[in-house]
Amino acid sequence: MRKNIVAGNWKMNKSLAEGIQLAKDVNVAVEAAGALKCDVVVAPPFLHLTEVSKVTGPKVSVSAQNCAAEASGAYTGEVSAAMLQSANIPYVIIGHSERRSYYGETDAILAKKADLALINGLKPIFCIGEELSQRDSGKYFDVVGQQIENGLFHLSANDFAKAVIAYEPVWAIGTGRTATAGQAQEVHAFIRKTIAAKYGEEVAGNTTILYGGSCNENNARELFACPDIDGGLIGGASLVADKFIRIVTSF
Ligand code: PGA
Repeated sequence: MRKNIVAGNWKMNKSLAEGIQLAKDVNVAVEAAGALKCDVVVAPPFLHLTEVSKVTGPKVSVSAQNCAAEASGAYTGEVSAAMLQSANIPYVIIGHSERRSYYGETDAILAKKADLALINGLKPIFCIGEELSQRDSGKYFDVVGQQIENGLFHLSANDFAKAVIAYEPVWAIGTGRTATAGQAQEVHAFIRKTIAAKYGEEVAGNTTILYGGSCNENNARELFACPDIDGGLIGGASLVADKFIRIVTSF
């Protein structure tokens, strides 16, 4: 059966010292929480990754927030999937809506990133989600279906099975306006159905699909109780260890 995951996306927050402290606090809280019903992932900025790895134990995995769309070479400022692998980073977030909208990352670029992540043994946390106008015009199924198809459906079933999907409606990210459990479940069920049509019921049933967008310690329980919601990708609420742990223990 599929795994539940709660992943904290720190985005561009925390100095190195603050990030190490947050990772230590999360690690202590996870250890103290005993048996969990989910895997825990934290995604600090690139600079923090190796230091955060050193202060987290086996119950907290580390993720990058991005990787380059090229394998290596003259790409100033980029960090490759191979570099992440060499630093023993197991996960990478790909296609976050902030990357899509502020940095012009297209489906084609994201498909290349997914390939490079998989070639280098990283598990992609692949983000999809519609904008407010697309929600309001009722096009959200089309948008989400296209994003997953264009970004991931060139993969073999074996490779696809290594990916985690994060449904993050753009209108819910950082806005305090979370999707209702009903709205989120509707899209998660659609995503799983779309995966089943391409790769079959078994792969679809084993795919972890996270919800993201103003998920916090107050609404996580209701969201995670939905049959097709397998955890969360958490932004703001992952920056405070106590809040993050309350989300982790919401299953
Ligand atoms: P948020 O961000 O929880 O602050 O809305 C979620 C995300 O962007 O992954």
